Amino acid sequence: MEKLKIAGGYPLKGSVKISGAKNSAVALIPATILADSPVTIDGLPDISDVHMLQDLLEEIGGTVSFEEGTMEVDPSKMISMPLPSGKVKKLRASYYLMGAMLGRFKKAVIGLPGGCHLGPRPIDQHIKGFEALGAEVTNEQGAIYLRADELRGARIYLDVVSVGATINIMLAAVRATGKTIIENAAKEPEIIDVATLLTNMGAKIKGAGTDVIRIEGVDALHGCRHTIIPDRIEAGTYMIMAAAVGEGILIDNVIPLHLESLIAKLREMGVPVEPGDDQIFIGKSDALKTVDIKTLVYPGFPTDLQQPFTSLLTRAEGSGVVTDTIYSARFKHIDELRRMNANIKVEGRSAIVAGPVQLQGAKVKASDLRAGAALVIAGLMAEGVTEITGLEHIDRGYSDLEQKLFGLGATIWREKMTTEEIEQLENS
Ligand code: EPU
Repeated sequence: MEKLKIAGGYPLKGSVKISGAKNSAVALIPATILADSPVTIDGLPDISDVHMLQDLLEEIGGTVSFEEGTMEVDPSKMISMPLPSGKVKKLRASYYLMGAMLGRFKKAVIGLPGGCHLGPRPIDQHIKGFEALGAEVTNEQGAIYLRADELRGARIYLDVVSVGATINIMLAAVRATGKTIIENAAKEPEIIDVATLLTNMGAKIKGAGTDVIRIEGVDALHGCRHTIIPDRIEAGTYMIMAAAVGEGILIDNVIPLHLESLIAKLREMGVPVEPGDDQIFIGKSDALKTVDIKTLVYPGFPTDLQQPFTSLLTRAEGSGVVTDTIYSARFKHIDELRRMNANIKVEGRSAIVAGPVQLQGAKVKASDLRAGAALVIAGLMAEGVTEITGLEHIDRGYSDLEQKLFGLGATIWREKMTTEEIEQLENS
């Protein structure tokens, strides 16, 4: 087990290249199951979620290679092998194996997904969609069993706008008989990316990126080559970092349109932001004014940037209110930020951040992926050395984090934890 160390308080400068989108990658890879010939995806991030999905595709008989961001999947010999435990439980997005395997084999057994603990994360809308398409879905001893004699298109209204449910229903419906209409669908860019891959594989999908998606089922899907979109959450994390400790940072390989809510909030705080075609420059900011943020579904402020943004607010003048309307318990980073001298109160679904304060280096623990990103930013802002444990969460979603930060001038390194430190962490 390793810990990350950051010697904070130094400005960062230069440019950073954003990797492919994690939340697209984790859907694109399972989507390859639906084809009957090889699919190539370029630009994938080198993160543990991607490696785990590669292993899972191999477990069901896929031939997969992954080198320098390019994954080639030959799905022709895959079988509907049950995946009740093991790696499936390590990541949230293993739920996409349900839609993809149901779509291709009309049956699947998949363990309940794991992932970050952010409050209740039910998958009732996914199941509602599968059932509407004609599947029988049961939950037996921690695994979901799905079977259908035939999948038939249906009109499905999502009671909750969910990225996962929208994509999962798309995966199950593209090879169903007839027309499926998903109403109140999520509109995140990752949904358009998955629809683009499926369309290149021969699927007939209209309206991805709007709240009504129409799918005309086809008998078979074929292989193709696809380039993933850049990760807007990784880009946003570096933009926030640039606002916190940057002296001019260019964020490269980004779609500025995907980050409009963050750009607006940074500008409101007094951060110079200059978007280009596929780059965003964040200038040096001196005094920052605080702002309030409320997380919403896309194109609102993303919940995945709420935690990193909270670290930035500790530098701003005044009291800013951060409200998460998507997750009820995405505040585990707050206690850790307090250890670093932050002045933050949690009231219900809101955190009230009073600033400015000078953060101090401390020993802190990343409880989930974006909490980890928040602590990295705080570590860069803090005086002294910050030690972050719980790196397995950060490694699920941030490709080459140390190398990228090192390139911007940060003093950051990993160290092996001693047996005593591991014991202390496990008992904490
Ligand atoms: N929800 C339901 N029923 C469902 C599905 C969702 O009630 O069937 C509710 C949840 O209770 C929650 C909200 O909808 O309030 C979001 O749910 P969920 O966590 O299921 O969202 P998701 O679609 O699985 C994706 C991203 C998350 C991101 C959210 C919101 C992936 C793999 N994950 O999750 O990403 O926070 O959308 O934008 O795409 C992250 O990257 O750190 C991350 C957590």
